[in-house]
Amino acid sequence: MMQDPGPDDQPLLQVEDLHVTVNAGGARPDAVDGISLTVASGEAVGLVGESGSGKSLTLRAILGLLPPGASVTGGRVLYRGTDLIADPRSLRRLRGTGISMIFQEPMTALSPVARVGAQMIDAARRHHGWSPHDARRQAIRLARQMGIPDAEATLSLYPHELSGGLRQRVMIAAALAGEPALLLCDEPTTALDVTIQDQIIKLLTRLRDELSMSMLYVTHDLAVVAQLCDRVEVMYAGRIIESGPVTATFSRPVHPYTMGLLRATPDVDDVQGDLYAIPGYAPGVADRPTGCPFHPRCPVASPECQSGSFPLLEVGDGRATACAFPERVARLAETEVSS
Ligand SMILES: Nc1ncnc2c1ncn2[C@@H]1O[C@H](COP(=O)(O)OP(=O)(O)OP(=O)(O)O)[C@@H](O)[C@H]1O
Ligand code: SF4
Ligand SMILES: [Mg+2]
Repeated sequence: MMQDPGPDDQPLLQVEDLHVTVNAGGARPDAVDGISLTVASGEAVGLVGESGSGKSLTLRAILGLLPPGASVTGGRVLYRGTDLIADPRSLRRLRGTGISMIFQEPMTALSPVARVGAQMIDAARRHHGWSPHDARRQAIRLARQMGIPDAEATLSLYPHELSGGLRQRVMIAAALAGEPALLLCDEPTTALDVTIQDQIIKLLTRLRDELSMSMLYVTHDLAVVAQLCDRVEVMYAGRIIESGPVTATFSRPVHPYTMGLLRATPDVDDVQGDLYAIPGYAPGVADRPTGCPFHPRCPVASPECQSGSFPLLEVGDGRATACAFPERVARLAETEVSS
């Protein structure tokens, strides 16, 4: 079932030059520093990057649910052409049905004072106008698909009565119950064991196909991005530094940071091998370097990389990089292949 792509075939979600500032020791640095991305109808986009790069703040800014101390200071978030930042009433209407979010921490999303079944049913009822009976049936069906044991009994419990893994699965089911057009996922399966994780990724893949559901999927796990996503956005220090189709990006990255991330990904066929680590640390929000923010850690940096601006530039085939020196990236790729 294809969903209406909206007027003029515009992307379902269009984030333009988004800035989010945070409180950091008296200063207000941009934790999200002017990022732009799009998600088309039915498309799944992965958002990856090391801890602190601004992935969660980006997702939360889209849904207008920033934590205390963080605020949007610039940019637009267009959903089917409506600016959600300028029009918070539209955003409230869309939450849970048009757009849902699966949070990194399930207790953020679930009310502590309502039974988990009621919370799932509420979303489904609002979306479909279902009777309580039909909504409950749907909630039980989804709970079973999530591998929640004894679904009927579990739905009558409160969130604090569930284990962390079960809470996470209930939250995922609640986010899906309203069959949203856009699902924002923030590390949704990190806390779960691999079997359940695999089950949920398969379910998301199926729902994506069946409902033409769009996804913006934050994860550290590049294998999940490869399995689930069409395109990937790589974040570093609050910016997007590489963007492109998943297959091309993972086989021929065009930014040294993406290369480092891929090298640092464990290879299931080579469990004996030493795991590569990108040298140094990702910078904190208050001490981001000037110039190309990756320069202190980049194996092919030069003095020119320490100042000036390094915007994300298109390099063809739907790909873009913020590295201004493609010839160095090509050289780096050759040395990696021959080493
Ligand atoms: N409410 C807040 N107040 C102050 N600083 C914050 C706040 N929320 C996030 N930050 C800072 O903003 C930066 C980006 O945070 P964010 O949570 O978006 O990172 P992330 O990419 O999701 O990291 P992780 O992979 O660890 O979840 C971090 O340096 C973080 O410390
Ligand atoms: S601009 Fe310079 S420091 Fe940044 S990734 Fe490219 S070569 Fe490395
Ligand atoms: Mg996060």
